[in-house]
Amino acid sequence: MTPAEAQKRIVQLRAEVARHDERYYRQARPEISDFEYDLLKQQLAGLEAEFPQFASTDSPTLRLGDDRAQGFREVAHRQKMLSLDNTYNEAEVRAFHTRLVKLLGRDDLRYTVEPKIDGLAVSLTYEGGRFVRAVTRGKGDKGDDVTANVRTIASIPGELKGGPDVPVPDVVEIRGEIYLTAAEFERINAERASAGEELFANPRNTAAGTIKQLDPAEVAKRKLSIVLYSLGHCEPPVVTTQAALHAHLQVWGFPGVERIWHAGGIDEAWAAIGELDQERRSFAYGTDGAVVKLDDMALQREAGATDKAPRWAIAYKFKPDTARTRLRAITIQVGKTGILSPVAELEPVFLAGSTIARATLHNEEEIRRKDIRIGDLVEIEKAGEVIPAVLRSFPEERPAGAAEFDLPAAVGHQCPVCGGRIAKVEVADEEAQGVAWKCQNYDCSAQRAGRLGFFCSRRGLAIDGVGGVVAAKLVELGHVQDPPDLYDVALETLAALNLGTVEEPRVFGEKNATKVVAAREAARALPLEKWLYALSVPDVGESTARELGRRHRSFADLVDSALLSAVLHKARLVAERELQAPNSRKNPPKSDEDKARRKELCTRLDAEIAALDAGPLAGVPSDIGPAVAASVEEFFASKPGRRLLARLKQLGIDPPGTVIAAGVFTGKTFVLTGTLPTMTRDEAAAKIEAAGGRVSGSVSKKTSYVLAGAEAGSKLEKAQTLGVTVIDEAELLKLLAGD
Ligand code: IVH
Repeated sequence: MTPAEAQKRIVQLRAEVARHDERYYRQARPEISDFEYDLLKQQLAGLEAEFPQFASTDSPTLRLGDDRAQGFREVAHRQKMLSLDNTYNEAEVRAFHTRLVKLLGRDDLRYTVEPKIDGLAVSLTYEGGRFVRAVTRGKGDKGDDVTANVRTIASIPGELKGGPDVPVPDVVEIRGEIYLTAAEFERINAERASAGEELFANPRNTAAGTIKQLDPAEVAKRKLSIVLYSLGHCEPPVVTTQAALHAHLQVWGFPGVERIWHAGGIDEAWAAIGELDQERRSFAYGTDGAVVKLDDMALQREAGATDKAPRWAIAYKFKPDTARTRLRAITIQVGKTGILSPVAELEPVFLAGSTIARATLHNEEEIRRKDIRIGDLVEIEKAGEVIPAVLRSFPEERPAGAAEFDLPAAVGHQCPVCGGRIAKVEVADEEAQGVAWKCQNYDCSAQRAGRLGFFCSRRGLAIDGVGGVVAAKLVELGHVQDPPDLYDVALETLAALNLGTVEEPRVFGEKNATKVVAAREAARALPLEKWLYALSVPDVGESTARELGRRHRSFADLVDSALLSAVLHKARLVAERELQAPNSRKNPPKSDEDKARRKELCTRLDAEIAALDAGPLAGVPSDIGPAVAASVEEFFASKPGRRLLARLKQLGIDPPGTVIAAGVFTGKTFVLTGTLPTMTRDEAAAKIEAAGGRVSGSVSKKTSYVLAGAEAGSKLEKAQTLGVTVIDEAELLKLLAGD
């Protein structure tokens, strides 16, 4: 690989890993297995090691994930919450031991081996023996205060119990994992199914999503569980070994791990990992690995930690369960944007606790890359969490005559749902990435149903009750074309909806229908940004919708947007500037005279561009670029776009934008970092926005001010390198007062 190729790949991989981080930690909706994720990260780390010139302190290989969500107070951990280094083979586990032997200068190392619980990490603080706080890992140094939600977990003691030789520390952070039992997960999903709601994908994400609910009463409806396994700050330090910690946790009153193994050396540790793998499927929680920890805490301290993980512990990840079966057929599903996704129809096979008859094949490219053909023996994987996936085929056992899969030919070169035209497109959005075939008919019933389901989903307008099945039925019966048509469906029609068959009817019912009607009425009051996202305007993702919603007063304002015109105008000027550049290689000047003329023209263009940047485009984030602007303009000028607008008008729905008021900070961008003396960062951000300012997550040359508090980190450093003005809370208050 040449350095240029490596650089390109590194940039790609970083973006890919960042996208998966966002889905896993923040949205709790991963689309690949942990194993695939770790492979991506390993590839990235490998390239960064081989080409150190492209290393970056920002790389996800050096960062902890970030699970923080909006609406929670941020709290600093007394001791940083670290992650664990992952390994996938015996040699790496042994290398971990060899490193420690060298580091500590002795080879009589004892270990404990514990299950690695597949939940979400939390830190419980006890002061004077009383439970005072629960905080998520966040980004390691500080996390979200989720105390009220965690208090709903019955097995957490309000007060620590002491015992003989087990004192209660003055201050202690106890770390563990919150999870849902398989039984509770199934109960929740059964309840959702009967209410016609979208099903949750797996226990881990449901637990993570539950902890981030803002209403503890909602959290209490789902019975979360917890298991504790590690210590943060502890004063005085009353525990000296990992084995003793587990005994202490029990006396203090906590649920502990199902079993721990004591190992006299790395051979015994490896044997214990094997035993754990045999037993783990009977545990109350999902496990995705084993954690090997140095037993002696004095040695743990001596070994220390990197920024990300301790050197005294390592996770061995079990390979996801796999099975072999026949690929009977490949069917094609059509999603809300019209993307055609191939699905593997399998000879049913039992795998990791359930019978699997379908698996995802992602896209046509992947089918070709893995050389998967109908009739093949295939290996499938279920990573506990995500939809089962087809890993590989066995071409040597292929039935004679099995042809390569040709997606467009398989669907007769038309959409399998509506018969509409299909085209090959490049996609890079929240849903998918890469090249895909797409149904071009906006009125395709699969797209209609997909859009309606999304419109009603939690990420849309949260009209609970209208999940995929109900949405498809409403479209099938002709009650809904565009999502807003839902407002015209009468309560009686909804109640009478038969979601089953004629022989075995399953009626939606009055109670569910009443809930839907109440929820759709409540949704009328939601702001423009929510509606914009919920209506699936092409190329408008969640953050773009938010930025557009803050800069327009209504749909009418957006349709006639001066801002979008300015974005497009600038794009044209920039293109012209490139074409006319006096040193352009593509379009070299014809004479000295021509060169001089173009120089002058470029000066004028530069001035015009600068005026746009300082004027209508000041503080406009990169989310609102020319592609988005063109797409939004085009959509609202198109027939479906105009139909939507007319419908909203007819229904009296006119969602307001959350336009930032003009004030002392109009046109100014702030970045907040560190802990402020009297305000939370959310409070400071609210004050800045109320005065017309914008708050951004990263420092650039365009940042007007960095507001720094105690323990400000890399953002402060970056501000100093770039020469951005740094202020503290007192200075912010002065500026707000107009001083
Ligand atoms: S010890 C400093 N023990 O796995 C040591 N972690 O992938 C920190 N986890 O962030 C963790 N089971 O949330 C430890 N028995 C166990 C665990 C465990 C699950 C989680 C933990 C950690 C993550 C790393």
